[in-house]
Amino acid sequence: MKDARPLRDITWNELQEMDAGRKGPLFNRHDRPYHCLIAQQFSREMLDRLGDLATAVRRIAKSKAGSRFLAGLLDHKRAMIYFSQPSSRTFLSFYAACQILGIKPSEVRDAATSSEMKGESPEDTVRTFSSYFDLLIMRTPKQGFAEKMAWLLSNTDRPVPIINAGSGKDQHPTQALLDIYTLQRSFERAGGIDGKTVVFVGDLARGRTVRSLSCLLTNYRDVRQCFVTDPRLQVPDDVLEQLKAKGVEYEVSDDFAAAVPRADAIYMTRIQDEWDKTPGESGHLDISRYSLTAKHLAQLKMTAVLMHPLPRRGEIEVAIDRDPRAIYWRQVRNGMWIRVALIATVFNVDAQILEYYKLNHA
Ligand code: NCD
Repeated sequence: MKDARPLRDITWNELQEMDAGRKGPLFNRHDRPYHCLIAQQFSREMLDRLGDLATAVRRIAKSKAGSRFLAGLLDHKRAMIYFSQPSSRTFLSFYAACQILGIKPSEVRDAATSSEMKGESPEDTVRTFSSYFDLLIMRTPKQGFAEKMAWLLSNTDRPVPIINAGSGKDQHPTQALLDIYTLQRSFERAGGIDGKTVVFVGDLARGRTVRSLSCLLTNYRDVRQCFVTDPRLQVPDDVLEQLKAKGVEYEVSDDFAAAVPRADAIYMTRIQDEWDKTPGESGHLDISRYSLTAKHLAQLKMTAVLMHPLPRRGEIEVAIDRDPRAIYWRQVRNGMWIRVALIATVFNVDAQILEYYKLNHA
């Protein structure tokens, strides 16, 4: 049963005890994202709409008149991009997405330069941001922090939307949105995402992009998910429980070579040793078996795609970038367009964009 109560009518304890499936829709308004916090808040219909909007935006943006139109849509808004964890692509693509829509972005990328150094709590810091900005985009090492802030702000006079740009080892919903958009485009002429086999490889234990993408893929029919890595880096139980509950076919294995020929998409990830309790702890794991080589490529379907959220560490050789199945650099660019689509939807200017597109491009 969908909970129809607004977020502010729910206690923090209640919210924490809800499973992600029940919690997700609370972050939407009228079946549209208001906050963007967890993958569980997105339905198939929302994913289709975001993808179509992203494609409309990228075509509109090709002309000067189109770019001007987009940049006039939200030029009365300001966004704070608050990243207390390293980032290149996610940070810059949000920055660029704001600029495309005319939003003025500001940034805090190092908590050491904020009043947190004077002992202020991160909660008070974020509440301060909400006084000056209309949108908060945040990346934190703390699991659930963006969610907590969305709940906390919903009880203040300025409940501004929050976009989670990566929360601990937990979720990275906008990366998953760009991954889905990339898959939608890649399989456009091959029946779409339905019925495909997606193979996840690498640090599945700590990769938040894997948890979010695995969840979004459950919106599609008959998608098989295969988790291939060293048993010590296998995907956490909650991910598998979710697949079981939804009746999704999945496989857990350590045999990369066997999985390659069956894959329609391979989603490579790096070792996330920044989470090691003892520095260098994961260094002793021999993960070379989970790197993609020319031998694997020879076994890979010609219609398959190779993905990676990046940054990479050597699990895909640079020479492989030239293979037409390698689409990770396209993912990077798609990330900017899908973030434009998401922000436009949050601020309800999506209908205006589609109308402009219909008049000028269709
Ligand atoms: C990912 C992340 O931050 O979780 N990077 C990204 O946003 N593209 C993956 C990673 O850091 O390995």
